[in-house]
Amino acid sequence: MSSATNNGQMELEETIRNPGYKDAVDGGSAADASSSGTGERRDATAVKLDAAADEYTQVKPYAGMPKEVLLLHSSRARYRVPREILFWLIVCCTLALVAVTITIIALSPPCLRWWHITPVYQVYPRSFKDSDGDGVGDLKGIKEKLDHFLDLNIKAVWISPFYRSPMKDFGYDVEDFRDVDPLFGNMQDFEELLVEMHNKGLKLIMDFIPNHTSDRHRWFNLSRTRDPQYKDYYVWTDCDPAFPKPNNWVSIFGNSSWTYDEVRGQCYLHQFLKEQPDLNLRNPDVDLISFWLEKGVDGFRMDAVKHMLEAAHLRDEPQVDPDKPPVITTEWDLYHDYTTSQVGLHDMLREFRAVMDDYSREPGRYRFMVTESYDYEEVDKTMMYYGTPLIKESDFPFNFYLLDLPQNTSGWWAKHLVDLWMSNMPSGKWPNWVVGNHDRPRIGSSAGRIYVRAINLMLLTLPGTPTTYYGEEIGMENINITQSQVQDPAGKYNVSLSRDPERSPMQWNSEKNAGFNTQTNNTWLPVHPSYETVNVEVQNKDEGSVLSQYRFLNGLRQSELPFLRGWFCYVLSDTNVFSYLRELDGHKEAYLMVINFGRGPSTTDLSAVKELPDELRVLMSTNTANNQKVFQKSRIQTEAGEGLVIRYSTYTRFHPNHPAQCYVSEKACYLETVGILYKC
Ligand code: GLC
Ligand code: MG
Repeated sequence: MSSATNNGQMELEETIRNPGYKDAVDGGSAADASSSGTGERRDATAVKLDAAADEYTQVKPYAGMPKEVLLLHSSRARYRVPREILFWLIVCCTLALVAVTITIIALSPPCLRWWHITPVYQVYPRSFKDSDGDGVGDLKGIKEKLDHFLDLNIKAVWISPFYRSPMKDFGYDVEDFRDVDPLFGNMQDFEELLVEMHNKGLKLIMDFIPNHTSDRHRWFNLSRTRDPQYKDYYVWTDCDPAFPKPNNWVSIFGNSSWTYDEVRGQCYLHQFLKEQPDLNLRNPDVDLISFWLEKGVDGFRMDAVKHMLEAAHLRDEPQVDPDKPPVITTEWDLYHDYTTSQVGLHDMLREFRAVMDDYSREPGRYRFMVTESYDYEEVDKTMMYYGTPLIKESDFPFNFYLLDLPQNTSGWWAKHLVDLWMSNMPSGKWPNWVVGNHDRPRIGSSAGRIYVRAINLMLLTLPGTPTTYYGEEIGMENINITQSQVQDPAGKYNVSLSRDPERSPMQWNSEKNAGFNTQTNNTWLPVHPSYETVNVEVQNKDEGSVLSQYRFLNGLRQSELPFLRGWFCYVLSDTNVFSYLRELDGHKEAYLMVINFGRGPSTTDLSAVKELPDELRVLMSTNTANNQKVFQKSRIQTEAGEGLVIRYSTYTRFHPNHPAQCYVSEKACYLETVGILYKC
């Protein structure tokens, strides 16, 4: 037998015994066959081989085949091709998935935090609700009224101080930072209030007073007796007991900021009342905020922060008018170069921030910080409290500029005040707006009743977080105070400086004491005579009331993305009208606000604003008769004190054509398909 015949025989046998063999050796055996012989013998072998191969290909892969067989099958086209297709499909799908994920992450805006979304509501605890009939509001009273916040969709409540205090400055003079004053209740009342607030989804922001304590604080008593640990806790200096003015520094409440202390035989500094000695914060201080953070409070309003440090050299401050005799009686007489905004102040606040960050790690437990500093025309100083891009400080410093609206109620003045903040705020930061607090006359009284609704409308449609002082949501006004009724120590020097008028009891209903105290006929300050009509209960029933409009606007603000995340652009300002819009890229609905802060009716022509549709329908007017009214954009009519919210639909955006008139904290482009990402 030739070797070719032998080969053919072996091949055939192997093929029959092992059906996978044929494919593996196909090429080789064919080559062998062609090279190993000629003529009929070769043909016969080939025919036999083909027959065997045919037989082989009909044998299907079988369970339990050895690895070698499996490999032979797997390299056949009918298995290889689908496998390769599947492989590349998986690769492509994975890449596509990665690309989609990256795109979504890149496009999705960061989640807004709770303090971005809700307005902050300030409760002055003495005046909110008295649960025990002593005439002064208390913590239990606040707990009784939590549903008021829910009704208005307000989720953040700042409560002015309720620490143990001799109440010389109604709680801003703290005797014990770790206790509740019996006037307001006890620690258990506080804990119950906090639990109840958290159960209802409300956040509690406390006041914190880092600058000073009460003169009844344990530290002050130890300091005046020169206890080694506490002797430098306050700012002491030698002085003449007969003329206790070691320099010309003056208190915010008037007159020298120095008082002689007989016990220690030195003068101590107080930038506020003499019963509020300034802490010497350069000394090792005690961590007071962790105590409350541990209890679960959601943030702090840091009081009077610019006063925290003073220059150690204690030199006289320069007089504003150097030609005047050096008889200094008010804070306005001096430049406060040595008593405010001293170097080191921001480091201290950043340390507070760091402590708060430590307590912010759990999801949903972000601890919020807002600072109080009246820097007046030195807006840069205020902006420093925002921190830097790398070092966090307060989430925002209070913006008090709108408190000046009554100085010149007009469209252009409103724009000027708004722009003071917007054009000076570091980019990427979050704005905020305050129109009232326990230190300033109520805006309804100072600007005039007719502007109350328009001011609320502006507050709730500007970008950033609004702060509402209790009673502003119903349009409460100042009470009149006679000299004999003065409670506020600041008003004892000068009744016109009294802050009592804006601290009158909250007006809940038309019953006794406006529902503030239902048990006795005692209220620490008189109730405003308007309470029978200006109260929560009456206004809740009236769809056109200040309260209902507040609720509507706050609802709109929180449900419509352009208000929370969108651009803010100036459209027009004149003697009467301030007009601006809110729009979000990719979002069809945009909002135009037209607010008349003037003294009479006005017709506003916005025909030059080509991005606006010709016809504009009023979604909401502070004058309910004008709801749904349609205006030509060349003739938008408003009465004095009337504010309009106009909703329009277009994908044409205003901000790309007017970049100098527009601001946004965080650029976002709305995608309907991933709309859910915007509501996290
Ligand atoms: C803040 C408070 C004010 C208080 C002062 C002193 O300005 O808002 O009410 O009198 O600090 O603590
Ligand atoms: Mg009480």
